[in-house]
Amino acid sequence: MIDQATIAKILDVADIYDVVSEQVALHKRGVNYIGLCPFHNEKTPSFVVSPAKGMFKCFGCGKGGNAVHFIMEYEHVSYYDALRELARRYRIEIKEKELTPEQMLARNERESLFVVNEFAKDFFVRTLHEHPDGKALGLPYFRKRGFRDDIIRKFQLGYSPDEWSALADEALAKGYKKEFLVKTGLCIEREGRDGLIDRFRGRVIFPVHNTSGKIVAFGGRIMNADAKTAKYLNSPESEIYHKSNELYGIYLAKQAIVRQDKCFLVEGYTDVIQMHQAGVENVVASSGTSLTPGQIRLIHRFTGNITVIYDGDFAGIKASLRGIDMLLEEGMNIKVVLLPDGEDPDSFAGSRSSSEFQSFIKENETDFIHFKVKILSRDAGEDPVKRAELIASIVKSISVIPDAILRSVYANECGKLLNVDERLLNKEIAKLLAEKDKAGAHDDKNDGRADARDGQRENDITTEDAGKEDRFKDIERLIAQIIVRYGNRVMCYVKDENGGDNIPLGVMDFIRLEMEEDNLQFRTPLYKAIYDNAIAHYRDDDWDCRRFFMTHSDEAVSREAALLMTDRYVLSKYHARFQKVFSEEERLYEIVPQLVTDFKNCVVEDELKNIESALKREDVCADPEKCLNLMNRFKELKEVQKILAKKLGDRVITV
Ligand code: CTP
Ligand code: MN
Repeated sequence: MIDQATIAKILDVADIYDVVSEQVALHKRGVNYIGLCPFHNEKTPSFVVSPAKGMFKCFGCGKGGNAVHFIMEYEHVSYYDALRELARRYRIEIKEKELTPEQMLARNERESLFVVNEFAKDFFVRTLHEHPDGKALGLPYFRKRGFRDDIIRKFQLGYSPDEWSALADEALAKGYKKEFLVKTGLCIEREGRDGLIDRFRGRVIFPVHNTSGKIVAFGGRIMNADAKTAKYLNSPESEIYHKSNELYGIYLAKQAIVRQDKCFLVEGYTDVIQMHQAGVENVVASSGTSLTPGQIRLIHRFTGNITVIYDGDFAGIKASLRGIDMLLEEGMNIKVVLLPDGEDPDSFAGSRSSSEFQSFIKENETDFIHFKVKILSRDAGEDPVKRAELIASIVKSISVIPDAILRSVYANECGKLLNVDERLLNKEIAKLLAEKDKAGAHDDKNDGRADARDGQRENDITTEDAGKEDRFKDIERLIAQIIVRYGNRVMCYVKDENGGDNIPLGVMDFIRLEMEEDNLQFRTPLYKAIYDNAIAHYRDDDWDCRRFFMTHSDEAVSREAALLMTDRYVLSKYHARFQKVFSEEERLYEIVPQLVTDFKNCVVEDELKNIESALKREDVCADPEKCLNLMNRFKELKEVQKILAKKLGDRVITV
């Protein structure tokens, strides 16, 4: 456990801009920064970072919070691990309380898998440089391929000895658990036999890093051309490795991608490494498969400009063209470089100087649509059927481009290139768009899952309990929002008993008075916790409510506080009743009593309903005294309701 003072220190130092910009390309917009949300798919940015507030917020998917929450969400780690990670980065010493055994267990499995992979990487690197076989076979292999030693180190390339269980033995001896060696795929259990065997025996090793530099997988290549075994062997999918969401090289490339606002896309491990060595660092590989939406999203987080590098293999190019439509659809700018026949980026970059390589790239970069027209025209020749197919395929590519102006520019240019009437192309494009629209309307229903759920919730209110709970939760959330944001503020000034001095009445003073007067309690545990915490601290000197809640050592509290801090929507429902001329803060004297009254109303209505249903019950009716009591209470509550309604009415501002 980490104490609140340390958490506060971490959040003071961990700059939200630093933390987020490591993963997302951010652009300045006024006092804030804006970018594409890393937590959901989007084409136009709705992800805002406010350095002044130390927060991020996505207005598309609603995710928000401070630097710790960003790390939690992004790296799928616990509150505790995110804090530790930040403390490590900013060199803040953490004074930890001893962890209980349950807490140790809760440190999640993902973390253990990363730890095992990190160990294995070190093992492979050490073996490459120090083990006799590494030195005799592995290292010379890489050198023969033209990799410089600094590049071998930078990519953490390694070697796995040709022994059954060299890695497994060392790992187990050092206390790494068998379970995690198997789950990462580093080792394999043999049926009916004891012990583990290593997966990557006798191969050179390419570790695969995620965007944060953690190792999610390995690729192992055989060193000789042996038709009997697969050239590359890769880690299997695991809890930390989903092949379709990773790009080889992204960790070492991301800064260069952002700096140059452009990403090169190649096919394999060695292509990435050679290009790096040739001074082109903004390069990633899809690792032999066609691009997936997850990979596209990953690139789009850093840039909207992609240049695909093709080797001269025609069949390969044709096969990959379809994947490119997905990039166009994402609104990305796509260029293509075609390498000379028989060359891949690895061989091509390896066989000339950096400057030769770089100028070749610059001079041969072509717009993707033009490239596609050219390459398919060559294939189609004069065959009318093939030409029709070609035109249909180009039309399809153009139609997925989100930007209408760009579409019309392309229609115009391709009309000329293909020697067909531009109007015909436009008509076909429009047809496809209309079709997509129809399908899209349908898609949206499934896609807007959050909305659908909200809608459902409203329907659910017919089943009373769910509705009741939600009403309490909603109103309690609003009060908690006031507490987190303004718990230490003065709400208004009141005259003292003699009608003399004005005495300040704090927001918490008021809420507390009202709650205690009627002996009320919050029903939602999280909001009760926020209220109780505020009650315990609001009289402290210099109590900074925002900081207090944001740095709370209870994860649930700090997380909710972050959401309450960033969520404009909630209070704005209330604002709508008022003139918008004044800020929330200037309206506390209206908003707070209103919320408390609303809460009381909820409580009263709830009790009224309970009485009503009790009065319908036989056992209650059979007891005249009970019955009478309930009816009296009912009347009483009805009176209270009237008073509350009047209170509410009084506060309605007439413009
Ligand atoms: N790949 C793979 N498994 C295979 C073959 C290929 O995972 N059996 C992936 C690797 O990521 C590889 C990429 O596909 O880097 C491209 O494959 P290929 O062009 O065959 O390999 P190269 O990168 O050119 O590797 P090398 O030059 O070492 O032959
Ligand atoms: Mn190759």
